[in-house]
Amino acid sequence: MTTTAITHISALVTNDPSLGDASPLGLIQDAAVVIEGDRVVWTGESSKAPATDNAVDAGGRAVIPGFVDSHSHLVFAGDRTQEFNARMSGRPYSAGGIRTTVAATRAATDEELSANVARYLAEALRQGTTTFETKSGYGLTVEDEARALRVAARHTDEVTFLGAHIVSPDYADDPAGYVDLVTGPMLDACAPHARWVDVFCERGAFDGDQARAILTAGRARGLHPRVHANQLGHGPGVQLAVELDAASADHCTHLTDADVDALAHSATVATLLPGAEFSTRAPWPDARRLLDAGATVALSTDCNPGSSFTSSLPFCIALAVRDMGMTPDEALWSATAGGAAALRRDDVGRLTPGARADLVVLDAPSHVHLAYRPGVPLVHQVWRAGERVAA
Ligand code: NIG
Ligand code: FE
Repeated sequence: MTTTAITHISALVTNDPSLGDASPLGLIQDAAVVIEGDRVVWTGESSKAPATDNAVDAGGRAVIPGFVDSHSHLVFAGDRTQEFNARMSGRPYSAGGIRTTVAATRAATDEELSANVARYLAEALRQGTTTFETKSGYGLTVEDEARALRVAARHTDEVTFLGAHIVSPDYADDPAGYVDLVTGPMLDACAPHARWVDVFCERGAFDGDQARAILTAGRARGLHPRVHANQLGHGPGVQLAVELDAASADHCTHLTDADVDALAHSATVATLLPGAEFSTRAPWPDARRLLDAGATVALSTDCNPGSSFTSSLPFCIALAVRDMGMTPDEALWSATAGGAAALRRDDVGRLTPGARADLVVLDAPSHVHLAYRPGVPLVHQVWRAGERVAA
């Protein structure tokens, strides 16, 4: 197999603390990365790099692992421009807007939905995202949820069943009947197409008992839990996520001390989604509080047409550093290694031998520029599984 070296890297983020400056980012100055096939086989100082078949000169730019976006909702049709406009004129966000997208999604063909997913994935890739999770949740019938997952699986292995996004409008008077549908025939049809099961555990969506019933039914069919928790207010979502060993509790905007403590003493990652707070003018999640307590924090986009219509992890990093108390190093770690932890993956989110060769060459001398130069397109090249895929 041919080997390729990426050389003349000003600062390489490996996310391996045993390398380089021994910080959590394992930062190596004046570095090189060697790729063989779809894997990284060597990282270190340029002067010690082994001989390779090919070399690509990074020109003194920084290199980071490809971003791991562990939370998005891309299987949808239409958009919610009017709702966003109304919100920016003072109307509050409510989960009810989801119904608008459900109607548009049900009316779309499989090919239209798939083209939409492809479009937003391509957009994310150009901004450095090389691993992407996405969900159902805008179908809310057995057939519409199953087809959303089939469409998602055309584009990524990280597929999440979110039949419990809101109670289907068809069951407005019978929420218990909808939970029975989700835990029965809908899961039967959907489980073969997904890796994860998720619930929007929130006032206006599903309460703690309903969420527990859905997540345990998913687990019985081989899906692993993750939870939309504590986005709009305090509630049982985070504690439930920890109780069920969910890979991730997502949003974590409204947390009690007991919630923070539970996350800090668990393997459940706190996934923060600042695009949602930006777009709903809500208070920021307190990343500093979680990090100081010892919780593992991931940063993701939550890309969806209602609460967070961004596919940009660089944008989320800038928000997290400016408004959520994260250092640039912590934000970068959370958008790469943190996202990998939230998907229980160890083959992505790091640049060390054995990892998938997913990396971003930044048009900057340091990863710090992602927060220091907000809104500037700093992605120079993207490599995924050893192939140069963008720029
Ligand atoms: O993660 N919170 C629930 N689901 C999405 C919003 C979906 C929508 O408004 O369409 C979220 O923010
Ligand atoms: Fe979400």
